[in-house]
Amino acid sequence: MRVLVVGGGGREHALCWKLKQSPSVTELYCAPGNAGIAAIADCVAIDPSDIVELADFAENLSIGLTVVGPELPLILGLADEFQRRGLLVFGPNRAAAELEGSKAFAKDFLRRHAIPTARYHVVKSMEEATSVIKSDEVGMPLVVKADGLAAGKGVVIATSREEALTQSKKFISDRHLGSAGTRLVLEEFLEGDEVSFFALSDGNKVLPLVAAQDFKRAFDGDEGPNTGGMGCLCPATNLKAETLKTIITDIVNPTISGLAAEGRKYQGILYCGLMLTRDGPKVLEFNVRFGDPEAQAVLPRLKGDLLPLLMEVAEGRLGPHRLEWTRDPAVTVVVASGGYPGSYDNGVAIEGLGNGAVEMGDDTFVFHAGTKAVGGKIVTAGGRVLAVTALGQNLKTAIERSYRGVEKIQFEGRQFRTDIGKKALERLAGG
Ligand code: AMP
Ligand code: GLY
Repeated sequence: MRVLVVGGGGREHALCWKLKQSPSVTELYCAPGNAGIAAIADCVAIDPSDIVELADFAENLSIGLTVVGPELPLILGLADEFQRRGLLVFGPNRAAAELEGSKAFAKDFLRRHAIPTARYHVVKSMEEATSVIKSDEVGMPLVVKADGLAAGKGVVIATSREEALTQSKKFISDRHLGSAGTRLVLEEFLEGDEVSFFALSDGNKVLPLVAAQDFKRAFDGDEGPNTGGMGCLCPATNLKAETLKTIITDIVNPTISGLAAEGRKYQGILYCGLMLTRDGPKVLEFNVRFGDPEAQAVLPRLKGDLLPLLMEVAEGRLGPHRLEWTRDPAVTVVVASGGYPGSYDNGVAIEGLGNGAVEMGDDTFVFHAGTKAVGGKIVTAGGRVLAVTALGQNLKTAIERSYRGVEKIQFEGRQFRTDIGKKALERLAGG
């Protein structure tokens, strides 16, 4: 079968690498891909938001399944266009993707279905925002969130009423994020550990996958600005078996059934961003796709063929599965361009990628995120450049291997966190 992967980051490299191992995949395409993906798939120069062009391509090449990496094409209605043309696609339609496309929609949905989440208000004007922020009802800190997609820049934790007002004004009146900030969610601050949980659904049935921990801040010790993710641990070490059950019964299942009941059948992977609070797990946000860099940590642990799972989801006939995962934990370290998530240079030569294969030996894998081939050399082409994942019989070995992999790859100004997994390791050692 011919398979098309949409996207061009580390997540899509991991998806391509995993799908390439499927005996049913005869030809693999990726739009637009990157320098690493080009070694295992035919890269096609189509922008992921060019839905019609992607559908034309899939139709012309009789693509058997299209797997969508990023959220934007899903929110724009890629799945609807594909389904209209009878093309099989992995990823929810526009109505279901609103779960990520609008934070206000997601919060109201959670409230309608009594799914645990932080208390909140949706506001549409500065007057409304002011009246909420000044009321005695809300405490500090207060989380100010732009409603629409904002590439990680739409969430601010305000520690005073003044700051909350200033931030709200930036989003609503000054339009710092354009139309993404016309509505805001003003939300109670939750304390606890964060965890990302993934589950597949065909719209009715749910197949829980795993939990992972994402490291969102740019610098060691969870300092610095928010990023797309600087590292990942899988499985999450901060989750008890009991909590995992609660997440499935109280969060994942009612989300999938609630969406179905509202005529928004969810077919794809559901990414639940959760806070493990003293009162139990609560939803921080939903994403309608694999995480990045979570996919780079999750997929190397999955044994067996990924394709049939994605096909069953896309066809709405998800069977019972006993997924097999390696017991070895995975640690992913993202290597970014100097300056990320602020401004950075592109076109910096990368050394040490060896023969360009994903496997570096020693259960270590390198996934390309922002890379490009120029005149036979691989150069940087983005903020997050590479993700190095390693498996190990324990967390310590996985961490060591991952950093050994990182050290082999050099480019000017490269930036990475040196503490991925460190806290978890200390916690394990402390019992
Ligand atoms: P979101 O895009 O909604 O996941 O927010 C980005 C990050 O902001 C999350 O990963 C959390 O670290 C933080 N955050 C969001 N909402 C809250 C909240 N209600 N309480 C505490 N932290 C939050
Ligand atoms: N790593 C966070 C995300 O994929 O949204």
